Amino acid sequence: MALSKNFIDQFVNVTVKAATEASYLIGKMDKNAADQAAVDSMRTELNKIDMVGKVVIGEGSLDHAPMLYTGEILGNKTGPVLDIAVDPVEGTNFVANNMPGGIAVLAIAEKNNLFNAPETYMNKIATGKIEKGLIDLDFTLEKNIRNLSDFKNKNISSITACILDRPRHKKIIDQLKDLNVKIKLITDGDVLGALFVSDPKYDVDIFLGIGGGPEGVLAASALDAYDCHFQGRFIFDNENDIKEARKMGISDLNKKYELKEIVKGDSIFCATGITDNLILDGIKFDNNKIVSETLVTHKSLDLKKIIRKVNFINE
Ligand code: FBP
Repeated sequence: MALSKNFIDQFVNVTVKAATEASYLIGKMDKNAADQAAVDSMRTELNKIDMVGKVVIGEGSLDHAPMLYTGEILGNKTGPVLDIAVDPVEGTNFVANNMPGGIAVLAIAEKNNLFNAPETYMNKIATGKIEKGLIDLDFTLEKNIRNLSDFKNKNISSITACILDRPRHKKIIDQLKDLNVKIKLITDGDVLGALFVSDPKYDVDIFLGIGGGPEGVLAASALDAYDCHFQGRFIFDNENDIKEARKMGISDLNKKYELKEIVKGDSIFCATGITDNLILDGIKFDNNKIVSETLVTHKSLDLKKIIRKVNFINE
């Protein structure tokens, strides 16, 4: 079943308000305060919506996060039963340090249609729309790059690969350098990193590497609307994570997830810029006006657009 298009405005409002609240903390060098402001706002706004919304990806488990914890039920308890994934501030360092790239994000799908991702790392790979079987987490990096270069009819030297700048990626980055690929390093924010493959104007051909699992699910829901390619494999490298995974019913710890196993059916994704980034302007204040930009996708409506909104302070 398709999600009602009436939800679009309501969920855009949720990320706009969360981004606005976080924006008061831009450059205040306090990432927890920025996150908390956005969490509080998201919770208040989500509770106004006619739904029984279950948080499948939130701010941790109940004992670690008092709000928007995984399993929390939100909404005014009438209406459809939905899965909700939230990242009230994705790129907390960006917001705290007044740098580009902070966004407020959520995704919704019908009950049991969003993957309940454990809070572990995920090895990810994403490209734009490609032929099936061309790019795979199990292929060597070189094979993936060569396949992509052939498919896009582009020299390897003009293929751009986006990856988080982390010591764990040293080997991949060295290999990309040896292949003469153009590297786009990001210091944080791999939801946006993955989304850069959705449109040639961002000039990223492939996104790869290890980042947060929850961020992988959020990115996948937007990439689904763009018909992009995405695969992810969770990394369970300690006893606690393995125990948690088993509790969540994950039996094959090494499973490679295809996009359609992460996000099923219809979904809505909203990301509002807090600070400016390549896709969205951040929150801007103009006298008593608050101007925001939100990327919205709605899979069944084939909707992919940036909504610019003007709200008023104290509205
Ligand atoms: P936060 O906004 O929660 O700080 O996450 C930022 C982020 O860069 C994510 O985009 C990414 O998935 C994850 O952190 C990577 O984790 P790590 O910093 O541990 O490599």
